[in-house]
Amino acid sequence: MGSSQNGGVSTAHVNMMTDTIIANLPADGLRVVVRSLLVLFPGITGAFEQETKKYITQKVASSIIPEDANPSLVDLGKTQQIARSMLGCGLSFQSLELFQNLVIQGAAVLSRTNDSDLSSLEIFLASVDGDIVQAMTAVQKSLFIDTGARVMNDGEKSMVKGLHQSIIDCHDALKITNRDFPFGRSLVSTAGILGLPRAALPDASQQLYNQIAVAQPPPQAQETFQLNGRNVPRIFSGLWQMSSPAWGAASTSKIVGQFSKHVQQGFTAFDMADHYGDAEIVFGRFSSLYPHKDAIFTATKYCVFHPMAVSREAVQANVSERCRRLQTEKIDLLQFHWQFYDNPDYLKALQFLSEDSRVAAVGLCNFDTKHLLNVVESGIRVHANQVQFSLVDSRPVFEMGSACEKHDIKLLTYGTLCGGFLADKWLGKAEPDVYDGSITPSQRKYFEMIRSWGGWDLFQELLVALRIIATKHHVDISNVATRWVLDFPYVGAVIVGARMGISEHTDENLRSFGWTLDSSDQDMLEAILKRSRRKDIYEHIGDCGAEYR
Ligand SMILES: NC(=O)c1ccc[n+]([C@@H]2O[C@H](COP(=O)([O-])OP(=O)(O)OC[C@H]3O[C@@H](n4cnc5c(N)ncnc54)[C@H](OP(=O)(O)O)[C@@H]3O)[C@@H](O)[C@H]2O)c1
Repeated sequence: MGSSQNGGVSTAHVNMMTDTIIANLPADGLRVVVRSLLVLFPGITGAFEQETKKYITQKVASSIIPEDANPSLVDLGKTQQIARSMLGCGLSFQSLELFQNLVIQGAAVLSRTNDSDLSSLEIFLASVDGDIVQAMTAVQKSLFIDTGARVMNDGEKSMVKGLHQSIIDCHDALKITNRDFPFGRSLVSTAGILGLPRAALPDASQQLYNQIAVAQPPPQAQETFQLNGRNVPRIFSGLWQMSSPAWGAASTSKIVGQFSKHVQQGFTAFDMADHYGDAEIVFGRFSSLYPHKDAIFTATKYCVFHPMAVSREAVQANVSERCRRLQTEKIDLLQFHWQFYDNPDYLKALQFLSEDSRVAAVGLCNFDTKHLLNVVESGIRVHANQVQFSLVDSRPVFEMGSACEKHDIKLLTYGTLCGGFLADKWLGKAEPDVYDGSITPSQRKYFEMIRSWGGWDLFQELLVALRIIATKHHVDISNVATRWVLDFPYVGAVIVGARMGISEHTDENLRSFGWTLDSSDQDMLEAILKRSRRKDIYEHIGDCGAEYR
């Protein structure tokens, strides 16, 4: 007998042959099947989460590693899997006990490990550091109420405090060993939620400052566009990749070192959001220490995913939070996402944002053409709209592009490289298993897009054509895919996702500038795009941003 969705008793049973599949299908196969079911029947998502919660809740006690254990990396990894699953199904506060356990046990293992065996342990601890950052984002999200955010109750506060204290203890204990402290990002994130002043934290400013190349102001990018009177590079660096260790996790100093490298190559514009983990915090730390900060362009987002009562105070409180996390008094571009088109209060919120002197320019995020035009008609000046735009998702060409051109609004585009699939390394490769450890969350997102667009075989034909064009222009496939989007007159910039401290493409991305696709290149690509389902995507998913609603 199984349990039903509402916790009562269900009369349904699992057919014996179906049960044979569940018992025997390898775990990676089960993952693919579960994912397909959730895509085909999104209505079962709630039940899936509910059943996961029940299973996980039973597992918590046995996942805590006892104080006197001497756990292996595999043991630590099993506890991490349960903690991550708790985050995934909304048990954010409850997961903190497991993360605290991982900090304590991880630090103990670190102090016992020989220098020669450190590498995989350090990678693991960096991933726990990233998990805790993600847990803090989830905790913050769980505090949303319609008038803003509620304060934590005593029980919740003590769970965060317990975790924070374990990180401080780990810091103090490791000071006497010769080991690098692995939880720098968690330390700052937990302190932020508790409202602790930065001064109360162990200071690593000097060490961070050393990561920043300070000598010269950054060069101007070869291609720029005007946004609210600022000259801005036509490639932004996107920091969604910092929101989860599923993209890989790096220490603050490695990330700051890579911010510095981006800026010194002329990639001075960065895109982040209120829910991209600690991206705003680490970036704010970098830009506050960077000596030529006026050359940097900071774009972040205010995303309303939960019903809210719009008031000037609530909107101003969000701007204050962005400023605090970014350590700035002015935000160059604040992009606004609104989930509920049936509630026209987005116009009120945008009006309050445009009246806030701390917001230099207001932008939109994932607005469709109809609602973007509502904003324009209400007299609010928006400078940009951030939308998905690539060779496999060309929805902006149908309506959005001409509306933007008419009203001098620039598109900032994401997904332009399909999370890295539009690159030489995927040419001639078989369709990937999306749960392979090397596949990132953004690739999972865009893999569905590739399927809807025309499937893996047609995508390979596209890569072949891109390779021919790339060879002709002495560039890479990714440069041609970027160029195709940049060549639309209403596109301000392509936002290229960056796995800061994990992978590095600044040298290659410089080669997207300074040339254009000629008509024979365009024809070659068009011949493939014509055979895709690009129009069906627009008709079935809807205009830009519809996939989120
Ligand atoms: N508003 C929204 O709803 C929304 C949604 C998604 C993203 N965004 C924004 O847009 C940004 C873009 O992220 P995305 O997820 O859409 O990913 P993307 O930009 O399509 O792909 C990023 C990946 O492409 C690969 N790459 C970058 N340059 C390359 C080059 N020159 N050659 C080969 N590969 C290259 C890298 O993969 P490897 O690291 O594996 O090498 C990188 O991680 C995000 O960070 C975020 O700021 C916004």
